[in-house]
Amino acid sequence: RTVATSLPPRVFPPGHFGFALDIDGVLLRGPKPHPSAKKALSKLQENGIPFVLLTNGGGLSEAARCEELSLKLDFPITPSQLVQSHTPAKDFAKTHKTILVVGGEGENCRKIAEEYGFENVFIPEDFYATDPNISPFNPSPPPAYARNVPKGTKIDAIFVFNGPRDWALSAQLIADLIRSDNGVYGTLAEPGSKMHLPTFFTNSDLVWASQYHIPRLGQGAFKLAVGSIVQQYSKALNRIHLQTIGKPTHHAFRYAQQLLIQDLIAKLGETSPELELNEVTHGLAPADASADATAAEEAIPSPPVDLSPGATSEEATPSPPVDLSPGATSEEAAPPPPPVDPIPGATEEEKSSQSTEAKTAATPDATSKPPFKPYKKQSAILKRVYMIGDNPESDIQGANQASYRGTTWWSLLVRSGVWSEPQDTKSPIAVVDDVLAAVDWAMENEQ
Ligand code: G3P
Ligand code: MG
Repeated sequence: RTVATSLPPRVFPPGHFGFALDIDGVLLRGPKPHPSAKKALSKLQENGIPFVLLTNGGGLSEAARCEELSLKLDFPITPSQLVQSHTPAKDFAKTHKTILVVGGEGENCRKIAEEYGFENVFIPEDFYATDPNISPFNPSPPPAYARNVPKGTKIDAIFVFNGPRDWALSAQLIADLIRSDNGVYGTLAEPGSKMHLPTFFTNSDLVWASQYHIPRLGQGAFKLAVGSIVQQYSKALNRIHLQTIGKPTHHAFRYAQQLLIQDLIAKLGETSPELELNEVTHGLAPADASADATAAEEAIPSPPVDLSPGATSEEATPSPPVDLSPGATSEEAAPPPPPVDPIPGATEEEKSSQSTEAKTAATPDATSKPPFKPYKKQSAILKRVYMIGDNPESDIQGANQASYRGTTWWSLLVRSGVWSEPQDTKSPIAVVDDVLAAVDWAMENEQ
């Protein structure tokens, strides 16, 4: 049963559009594909419409997750079509050398973080193996894969890549490090010290649509628990903020938007007249980045209010995602100041050439031919992205505030996941039964 907004479908300016598809509750329910998933994906492929999977799930490398997804969906998914909860963490590998990474099975997340370029990656089991007394009630001995943590090791940042299997040990580790003297495990910061240990969660989902018929607690629940625990120390310590880089924050959506644009450029061909050549690099020199972004954002229509029955009457104007964990500020993780927006998956030399490029582009001269084709307003070739999700707080709210640099994001809420009437819809452009109905609705709207 498709309940679209009561507003007439909007007349879209011509231009390319794409899709961002959520996984749990949209394409999959636990290990099982939704009956309409394969048909929906095939329809996009047959029509040459770019799509990416944008999930708050994680715990495997993008390549391994794609293998698993291609099998489950009986449809080929490639790593350039997948943004997991921790994929945007790649951007932070240059800023933080020694990290604690929490979550997932075994040392999968350590391997992922090392693949992203983090130099020294520890996991909670390493600290437990180094001194089992840190977790006195842990029923099982440290695993064989655990590594020793040299005395005096300083942790620069904490990343939670996926829901931890052992909340007690993981929460203990995070609390100990947040209270430590500058990230050195086993020490305590002076009361009122200025120490702040960057702590990034990659998913604020309180629940998710698993195989069980009632949604299960997600990484967001763990974040709430840790938030309450560290709040007890916040009086003694300086500001503590648990940051987030997964949906609904802009990191996830920007990453997905960049992948869709790369896909479009590959389809259009670099010589396409739609790709305006200009001396400004695709990352835009810092000077005009903000101007460009603001101008583009101002021009973007906000999604219509969803007046369908059961939807709240609240305005479509999205409110910034509120970080629910007490004692934490809700600011989004400030990404490291990369010299140029890194193209996801760009190799180090490409990134560094991009950064050189950003400098030379600022003062172009006849000889400084850019090492790669500069595209101004690269995102202008992507006019719209339809986010199809089942979680109003992460998928719908995140998409409704993701419009950026000439690309409008609109959201479609499905009934196949965690949401059901009369819960708050967070103002999608339409409420539909499932992913196929969502794809049909959007494609009809693009006619
Ligand atoms: O752990 C996965 C869950 O939080 C939600 O995943 O695919 O619905 O964003 P997804
Ligand atoms: Mg979902």
